[in-house]
Amino acid sequence: MAISEPEPLTAAHDVSGFSCGKPSLDRWLKTRALSNQEKGFTAVMVVHQANRVLGYYGLAPTVVLPGTRPRSIRTGQPPNPVPCLLLGQLAADQNYGGKGIGTGLLKHALQRCVTAASLIGGRALIANAVDVKAANFWTRRGFIPSKDDPLILLRSLADIAASITSASGSSSRGPS
Ligand SMILES: CC(C)(COP(=O)(O)OP(=O)(O)OC[C@H]1O[C@@H](n2cnc3c(N)ncnc32)[C@H](O)[C@@H]1OP(=O)(O)O)[C@@H](O)C(=O)NCCC(=O)NCCS
Repeated sequence: MAISEPEPLTAAHDVSGFSCGKPSLDRWLKTRALSNQEKGFTAVMVVHQANRVLGYYGLAPTVVLPGTRPRSIRTGQPPNPVPCLLLGQLAADQNYGGKGIGTGLLKHALQRCVTAASLIGGRALIANAVDVKAANFWTRRGFIPSKDDPLILLRSLADIAASITSASGSSSRGPS
């Protein structure tokens, strides 16, 4: 059976069997995701097979304080704090790992962030890495560790928008 396109998490989705190998991300999906979405804290998107969730991500607005930003997003005379977007969660079920679910979700999330920033602003996308391996996943995708915490990484939304534009113009590989 085909895996769905990304869609908003609802009570109809079955998250009970989800396992990405990182207990904190499994627990968040099972205990927090739906209520966070209903309260407007986080927009949670899932892909599923017959309603069984195989991957998800969570997006939220956020701000960052001066001094935690890398040079690349410190240009100009930014407001304090700086409006940003947060990709707080990204996970794929480990039983379906390496099939492109995580990459597909990330591509979808990046496109939504660029669209959102074009409507309401936002200087950078911040990613919360669950561990060092995840931080490496983000640095390979152009994110830069923040000054205070190597598990919080940032990439400017202008940079992400440019990579999407160049990827759609030159190949089907998706944003780098
Ligand atoms: C990272 C993750 C979302 C990838 O999903 P996936 O569907 O297996 O991945 P894809 O098939 O789309 O692509 C494989 C990529 O994931 C990376 N990956 C696989 N397992 C990973 C893990 N446990 N941690 C970090 N990256 C991982 C691979 O190295 C590869 O990245 P590369 O192209 O830079 O080499 C998934 O492994 C996962 O949920 N890991 C646990 C949670 C996590 O680390 N989330 C990342 C943000 S906190």
